[in-house]
Amino acid sequence: MFDSGVGGLTVLRALERHLPRDAFLYVGDTARVPWGTKGPDTVQRYSVRVARHLVDSGCRAIVIACNTASAFALEAVRAAVSVPVIDVITPVAVEVARALAAPPASARHVAVLGTRGTVASHAYPRALAAIDNTLITHQRPCPLFVPLVEEGWVDGAVPEAIARTYLDPLLRENSPDALILGCTHYPMMSAVIARVARAILGRDVPLFESGDATANALAELLGAPSPDTRPVAPSARLQVTDSPELFLDIASRFLGRPVDTVEHIDLAG
Ligand code: DGL
Repeated sequence: MFDSGVGGLTVLRALERHLPRDAFLYVGDTARVPWGTKGPDTVQRYSVRVARHLVDSGCRAIVIACNTASAFALEAVRAAVSVPVIDVITPVAVEVARALAAPPASARHVAVLGTRGTVASHAYPRALAAIDNTLITHQRPCPLFVPLVEEGWVDGAVPEAIARTYLDPLLRENSPDALILGCTHYPMMSAVIARVARAILGRDVPLFESGDATANALAELLGAPSPDTRPVAPSARLQVTDSPELFLDIASRFLGRPVDTVEHIDLAG
C-alpha cells in the first residue's frame, strides 16, 4: 500500500484490524509529499514508481491508500503492474450511497473534503452518481490539512481555525447528510472536523473515511486466509522516502502501538 506520506496509516490501521493475518508493506513518499497540489501526470508518475517497488518487493495486491492517487492514477497503476489494485474512493462511495439509501424523491446532499487534485478530478461526484444519481455532491479542497497532519499538529486552536474556515461555507450553504473525509490524511483530524461541523450545523453529521470500506474490499479480493502460521499481531513494514524519524513518531502515536523501525528507501528516478 502507498500514500504520499502518513495519511495512508488511517487505511493501514483498518487493514490491520480487518486482516490481522496478512502482511503489509507501507510506503509513504515523504520526499515528495504533498501530492494533492500536483497535476495528474506527476501523481501518475509517482504512483507507478511506488507501485513497481511494491511488486518488486513481493506484494500480491496493491491498495492505493491515497485519494489523490486513486483519482488520478488508478488506471496507470493497473496498467503498470500485474497484481490486483484497489483504490480508496470506490469503497467509500459505495458505503455512503448505501448509508443514504432512501426513496428517490428526497434529495440527499453529500459534502466531500479533499485535496485540490481530488476535488478537481471530480472522482467523488462521479463515483457517487454512478451508484445513485439522486445524490447531490458538494466539494471543498482543504490543502492546509495535509501539512498539519504531516507535522502531527491535529488538534488545538490553529487546526480548528483552519477547519472552520474551510467548512463554514460548505456546510452552511449545503447542510449535508454525510461528510466524506476524501483524503486519507484527514481522518487524523476527525475530532476537530467533527467538532467544527457540529458547531456550524448545530447537529452531528456522519463522517465517512476510506479505512474500513477499503479493508472490506481488500478482504473480499483476497478471499479467506489460509490456516497457516502468518502473524496475528500487526507487523506492517514501513518505508518512507524521507525523514523516517518524524514518520516513526507519528506512526506509533497514530497506530496506537509501538513502531520500532521505519526504513528509508530511495525511489528517485
Ligand atoms: N493522503 C493523500 C490523499 O488521500 C494525499 C495528500 C497529499 O499528499 O496532498 O489524497
